[in-house]
Amino acid sequence: MLVSKNVEELKPYQPGKPIKEVERELGISDAIKLASNENPMGSSPKAIEAVRSILAEANRYPEGGCYYLRKKLAFLLKMPEESIVFGNGSNEIIELIIRTFVQPGEEILYFDPSFAVYPIIAKAADRNYRAVPLRPTTFEMNVDDMMDAIGESTKVLFLTTPNNPVGNYIPYPQLKRLVEEVSTDILVCVDEAYVEYATQDDCRSVLDLIRQHPNLVVMRTFSKAYGLSGYRIGYAVGSAEIIGYLNKTRQPFNVNLLAQTAAEGALDDVEFLTASVENNSQGLELITATLDRLGIGYVPSQANFILIHTGGDGSEVFQGLMQRGIIVRHIPHPMITEYVRVTVGTPEENAQFIARFEEVMRQLGRIA
Ligand SMILES: Cc1ncc(COP(=O)(O)O)c(C=O)c1O
Repeated sequence: MLVSKNVEELKPYQPGKPIKEVERELGISDAIKLASNENPMGSSPKAIEAVRSILAEANRYPEGGCYYLRKKLAFLLKMPEESIVFGNGSNEIIELIIRTFVQPGEEILYFDPSFAVYPIIAKAADRNYRAVPLRPTTFEMNVDDMMDAIGESTKVLFLTTPNNPVGNYIPYPQLKRLVEEVSTDILVCVDEAYVEYATQDDCRSVLDLIRQHPNLVVMRTFSKAYGLSGYRIGYAVGSAEIIGYLNKTRQPFNVNLLAQTAAEGALDDVEFLTASVENNSQGLELITATLDRLGIGYVPSQANFILIHTGGDGSEVFQGLMQRGIIVRHIPHPMITEYVRVTVGTPEENAQFIARFEEVMRQLGRIA
């Protein structure tokens, strides 16, 4: 056999449909993409300017360890430089963690549904993975369920908070309790891809727990609130020992020059970050107020997207919106077949979405 059984069986990640593809298929030119939790405000102007200024320097390899970016981020996070490693998106960080720490016969645990990539990477690497279901109806990520699921061979926990695709979160005191109670032989990886958007007091980063808990790793990304999805850059923060191992196993130039430069520019642009977060809060308010008015259910969100209950097969709503040039996401998971996940857009995009969504829901007889 050309490949091993795990690779043969692997079902690759299904990304949101690209705008250009939808426009080609529908013969339109103004499709709206609210499917991949990207930043609708674009990229930070400071990031764009920084990238422009180094375009002619790409004949040289980039700094392998992201020297300047790491210095800047360490200062901002008040963490030692040796406690940060960057990746080609946090996707690469997830892959590095699994390849570096999970040995044959060991397993990862994750809540289900959460970010679809954890089990895909584990399977590709021929490592075991086990899902801990969210609580039915509430979609709660119950930390006791996670701790009860831990077995002899458990090596890494992936906890996504705020959770994609649900938008809910694990309250800080519960996360803290989990980190304190879990064996120090197990790596607790908290995926904070959406943490910048959080507004609830108890939905916050666990970065402050790293010093006391060397088995805790926080993963972050520049793809969301910083608006740099296309550059591909994310990072992990953890003990110098853990990060040291990840530095050993990463490729020598895993983060390209443009990505490093864009991220440096974005970190300087507090104004853009604040505006992005503000746009998101206002968008969520508008969308949830509309859903409340229409009597449509949803999961309150701490992220830049919202999981909406369509009152029937969610794929019909997904299709109806697609035909109207609005790309959202219907996630093929049995717990959320009646939902669509919608990324918060610009005010204009949100207004378009609301108008078309009402239209589709009416046409399907889901609302009066
Ligand atoms: C929870 C979560 N983690 C990680 C990622 C990956 O982000 P990146 O673009 O940094 O690879 C995503 C992207 O959607 C995500 O939702």
